[in-house]
Amino acid sequence: MANKIQFPENFIWGVATASYQIEGSWKKHGKGESTWDRFTHTPGNIRNNDTGDVADDHYRLWKKDISLMKKLGLKAYRFSISWPRILPAGRGKVNQKGLDFYSKLVDGLLDANIIPFVTLDHWDLPQVLEDEGGWPVRSTAEAFVEYTDVISRALGDRVKNWITHNEPAVVAWMGYGTGIHAPGLKDYTLAIPASHHLLLSHGQAVSVIHNNSQNAEVGITLNISWGMAASNSRADLDAVRSTDGEWFRWFADPVFGRGYPSDKIADYTKMGALPNGMDFIQPGDMEIIATPIEFMGLNYYSRHVHRTNTPDNDPQITFEQPKTPEHWTEMGWENYPDGLTGILGRVYFNYQPRKLYITENGASYSTPPNEKGNVPDEYRTHYLRTHFIAMHKAIQAGVPLAGYFLWSLLDNFEWSWGYMQRFGIVWVDYETQKRYVKDSGKWYRNVIRKNGF
Ligand code: FCB
Repeated sequence: MANKIQFPENFIWGVATASYQIEGSWKKHGKGESTWDRFTHTPGNIRNNDTGDVADDHYRLWKKDISLMKKLGLKAYRFSISWPRILPAGRGKVNQKGLDFYSKLVDGLLDANIIPFVTLDHWDLPQVLEDEGGWPVRSTAEAFVEYTDVISRALGDRVKNWITHNEPAVVAWMGYGTGIHAPGLKDYTLAIPASHHLLLSHGQAVSVIHNNSQNAEVGITLNISWGMAASNSRADLDAVRSTDGEWFRWFADPVFGRGYPSDKIADYTKMGALPNGMDFIQPGDMEIIATPIEFMGLNYYSRHVHRTNTPDNDPQITFEQPKTPEHWTEMGWENYPDGLTGILGRVYFNYQPRKLYITENGASYSTPPNEKGNVPDEYRTHYLRTHFIAMHKAIQAGVPLAGYFLWSLLDNFEWSWGYMQRFGIVWVDYETQKRYVKDSGKWYRNVIRKNGF
């Protein structure tokens, strides 16, 4: 039967993971401590005091995981490199065993006909660098460039798709602003320079990768939500503008050569977060940040509705749909597929990236395996189907979307939530490390096979 929804030829169907969330083996083979090791080992930071010490034990089970990916028919795999596995002290001495791990992983993927997409920074900064000031200081950007050089020399002959940072907004605002993520600092006068050094190191890394990896395509992954105002009141509309400026435009505008958005500079100045203005910007920085990239990666999960006229006048984000599992995932994130069409259209028509990828999208539901070993996670399948339709609409409208990476291959360590949230299309039994392909995974396999549904 012909598909109703047909994707373009060569559309890349993949899954995404991140080193700290799946690898475990946190101090094996010379790996250095990361900020996430330190943060999770400090009681009280993570639900249930869970840690990534073992996680999915992927560092040992990677061959099995590649077989699983092959069975699912995946065309591509987005994973991240643990910087402290490669450079335990952040810079300087290279840990050959760390390099070997990723080199073998890449070979295994290529043998299985799966295209590797490498993310250089999915948040696990070497703790030594944090001790020297972390992302708020410029020397961390320099160390990132050194790390990028080492890894792109080692893998650049085989890896042709590179993502510099994953969600720098989350690192800056949640790592140094609200302190919900590692390193757990709560100081916006640090968070803003952190955002600048993340962006600066992105731009510098683009050229380094191109030098070391012929015909490579390089991009950055930004998180984006579909912001809506609950009413047409000035205050609600302003809340949408302000949130979008903080979480998206602050990062996208400089990458596309527009500099930092002036409305947000004004907001931060008012907040007292820029006591010395933007003095961390040095001549030439903004040009470096705007180094041309081959693609833009977007992580989309949900929408946010902004309502300010709450009883205590405290601006709140609320959701409008009935509280059923079909409309709400267990993260409390709304299933809002129209937002995916919306963000794709908006980003393409506003910024004109050459090419786009959805580098993450998916849903948390904790449906367990039944006695037959099947996982009937129909709500995840529903989430995926509706988002694929939404993505298809954007392609029909002319958005050059080249691929989609489902978050995630495996249930894994979900940051401050620990193991409570399960995003995988494969169930992981953390006691035995047994994997069970969920019904959504089987459905995804068929979509990939037919390039539609
Ligand atoms: C994103 C992160 C990813 C995962 C998903 C659920 O913000 O990039 O690591 O935790 O959320």
